[in-house]
Amino acid sequence: MSAPKPKHDHDLLRFPQGFLWGAATSSYQVEGNNKHSDWWAWEQNRPPKYRCGMSCNQYELYEKDFDLIKQLNHNAHRLSIEWSRIEPREGQFDSHEIEHYKKVLQALKDRGVTVMLTLWHFTLPLWVAEQGGWENGATVKYFERFVKKIVPEIADNVDLWVTLNEPGVYIYETYIVREWPNAKKSLMGQIKTFWNLAQAHKRVYKFLHHSFPAGKPIGIAQNVMSFEPFHKHSVIEQLVVITNDLLTNHLFYFFTKGTHDFLGINYYFHGRFKHEGLIPEAVSSLPQTHDVSDLGWEIYPEGIFDVLTDLSDDIPIYITECGIATTNDDRRNRFLIAYLQEVARAIKSGVNVRGFFYWSLLDNFEWHRGFDPRFGLVEVDYLTFERQIRPSALVYTDIIQHNGIPHSLLRFIGHTVGAEEVLEKRYKEIIKGSKKL
Ligand code: BGC
Repeated sequence: MSAPKPKHDHDLLRFPQGFLWGAATSSYQVEGNNKHSDWWAWEQNRPPKYRCGMSCNQYELYEKDFDLIKQLNHNAHRLSIEWSRIEPREGQFDSHEIEHYKKVLQALKDRGVTVMLTLWHFTLPLWVAEQGGWENGATVKYFERFVKKIVPEIADNVDLWVTLNEPGVYIYETYIVREWPNAKKSLMGQIKTFWNLAQAHKRVYKFLHHSFPAGKPIGIAQNVMSFEPFHKHSVIEQLVVITNDLLTNHLFYFFTKGTHDFLGINYYFHGRFKHEGLIPEAVSSLPQTHDVSDLGWEIYPEGIFDVLTDLSDDIPIYITECGIATTNDDRRNRFLIAYLQEVARAIKSGVNVRGFFYWSLLDNFEWHRGFDPRFGLVEVDYLTFERQIRPSALVYTDIIQHNGIPHSLLRFIGHTVGAEEVLEKRYKEIIKGSKKL
């Protein structure tokens, strides 16, 4: 007798067992009062709207935020520690701040959450920046010394390490568009920074591997973009696509080959290159059919499928960030469902994706753009620090609880008749019940 034919489950788009579901934050963006950091010094010359100040005050309210994580059913969380707090002056480590981070990580563990910890997320202690920041080769040693000091204190409560967040974006914002400290036009500076970040990652990888052989995976969080030519048959546009893909998505991995246990992917952008004038430009070709975020970033779910299938290798992939800045929470619902549907498609076609971290748990300080962009699953009132769960957080929770996307949610993005009502009906009660926390 032949084996029974496998049945397709039409009710649910499933994710693999043990999938990590969570959200990401970074210390500077949510903690507040990081006075010893280069960003803090930089902001003092900017209008008040663009200063981080107390931010979400997570430094004091972390337990509340972790209760929210629990309440929302996340089984994992990505966060970072602030080098400038731990080593505010060269070689002087602040034991009070080390104790603080120990408590923070313990609080996550007490709630049964898998912890992904980023060791560097864009900010530097001011004293490091004053010596040239990542352009200075000595920073690699300083960073390694910091890591060697802090890691033994906290390692028990960390499950996955991210050494660096988005080296490419850091270089782009600091040296190319020059919106971040210490904005500078210097090709040499870019090259040195790239090189030193790659060295820093490699050294820290080695240290973590040798000292903690129990198999806690180590990677970076890399900003990865999907690209396409505007005219399918334009050779020049194809070449520009290939070059951009190599520089943005592959170069850092190439220079750090062999030192990644997983690929961490931050996915936000899709670029189309159009060649009409002399130099091909990145354009958005479909404003009528593709929605954009409040930052004007195109919503292009297909792109996450493309980058996942392109980068798929023999090591696991975690989506370390993916999110949307919007005050229209209905748009965030559609975003989540549509992007996760593409992640599920990629998994189905063989890509080894092990987790998804929405950016971000909370509204937070969006660097040079200040507080206007609202990325959070949870809304923050910056005057009172009150948190309010957004309906989209509950959509995400629903997906997490099913470890898959219920078909009724897929209908919602499919614009089928009655789709608008699906969410409303499904979440009405929960939304009504969501209160200020
Ligand atoms: C960064 C975050 C940032 C987010 C949204 C990522 O590039 O890691 O710090 O807030 O994108 O712009």
